[in-house]
Amino acid sequence: MLQFDLLKTDPTSHARRGALTLGHGVVQTPLFMPVGTYGTVKGVTPRSLHEMGAQIILGNTFHLWMRPGLDVLQGFGGLHGFEKWDKPILTDSGGFQVWSLGAMRRITEEGVHFASPVNGDRLFLSPELSMQIQTVLGSDVVMQLDECTPYETRGQLTTEGEARQSMEMSLRWARRSQAEFQRLNNPNALFGIVQGGMYENLRAESLAALVAMDFPGYAVGGVSVGEPKEEMLRVMAHTPHRLPAHKPRYLMGVGTPEDLLEGVAQGVDMFDCVMPTRNARNGTLFTRFGDLKIRNARHRADQQPLDSSCSCYACAGPSGVPWDQGGREGFSRAYLHHLDRCGEMLGPMLTTVHNLHYYLNLMREVRDALDAGEFAQLRARLRAERARGV
Ligand code: GUN
Ligand code: ZN
Repeated sequence: MLQFDLLKTDPTSHARRGALTLGHGVVQTPLFMPVGTYGTVKGVTPRSLHEMGAQIILGNTFHLWMRPGLDVLQGFGGLHGFEKWDKPILTDSGGFQVWSLGAMRRITEEGVHFASPVNGDRLFLSPELSMQIQTVLGSDVVMQLDECTPYETRGQLTTEGEARQSMEMSLRWARRSQAEFQRLNNPNALFGIVQGGMYENLRAESLAALVAMDFPGYAVGGVSVGEPKEEMLRVMAHTPHRLPAHKPRYLMGVGTPEDLLEGVAQGVDMFDCVMPTRNARNGTLFTRFGDLKIRNARHRADQQPLDSSCSCYACAGPSGVPWDQGGREGFSRAYLHHLDRCGEMLGPMLTTVHNLHYYLNLMREVRDALDAGEFAQLRARLRAERARGV
């Protein structure tokens, strides 16, 4: 089940405003999807995610297959019932996660052979099995199994020949994924993933072949894989806007707030990234005026919140009134610095709430600006504010 309504397009860029109807409800695009690898967005409750305005979250086929295992998930009728999240879920297929195992895996035409990182068992993941697992999970959006082409291997750039072989195998896996998804009578939506490395001709070929297969939505993969920023921007400028206008477009694993604004301008509807959640746990906070490192000694006695314009629970407390509108209920930088130094659990819980709120609010502002026909102005203002620094 999937319907995509294109509500508005921006005359100054490829940006679009849309509404995507999935099995567990309607989501407004462009949007950001918090990452919940193991059936939890680390450190935040589903209630808190609802309050922050999260519309759809991610899960990972590979991790959930390892633990708790399909028998347990089946007993709960899928991932929604297990993790108690009643809005849409998108699951990645496992290809990227297995790829991240590095030396522990061997990729063949059939699929990926690898040793379980949990107990060392020899395991095998194929496009068919990935579809079977994601069907048990009950994901609203299922991703094809693909091979994420690396930017370089042992210091050597991936050649065009290597990138072609990888991209063509991902296409064959796309066909096998689609056939198995149909055989399983899965009622949800399967997305194809464009690969091709840094080679625009290969990206164009991958895209054309996937479009011919008529998926209900498309992702752009193989970016943010160790390439220089200019290379990522080149792929972002090349691929998304060439995808069918009336179908959703998902840029996988990207990125900074600036990258999201650029992605929207290039016609992307959906983003996911571990950056807001992972960086929160490492003490790097995204704010209106740039990034802030809470571990820095200069915050030791600072009574200001992380972001004086932020209405999240960490910055503004229960009332949600930001500091710069007179609210004084939020937690101070000094307190968050202290929690971090003492290794207290509340530290990463609050910083994660803040960073996710920042990302979700950024996309809310983008949607409102697109509705109002003011995306170019918003983009220019946000970029200038972020560049100012805290
Ligand atoms: N996450 C980030 N990049 C990728 C990719 O290329 N493929 C998959 N499956 N997941 C990703
Ligand atoms: Zn905040």
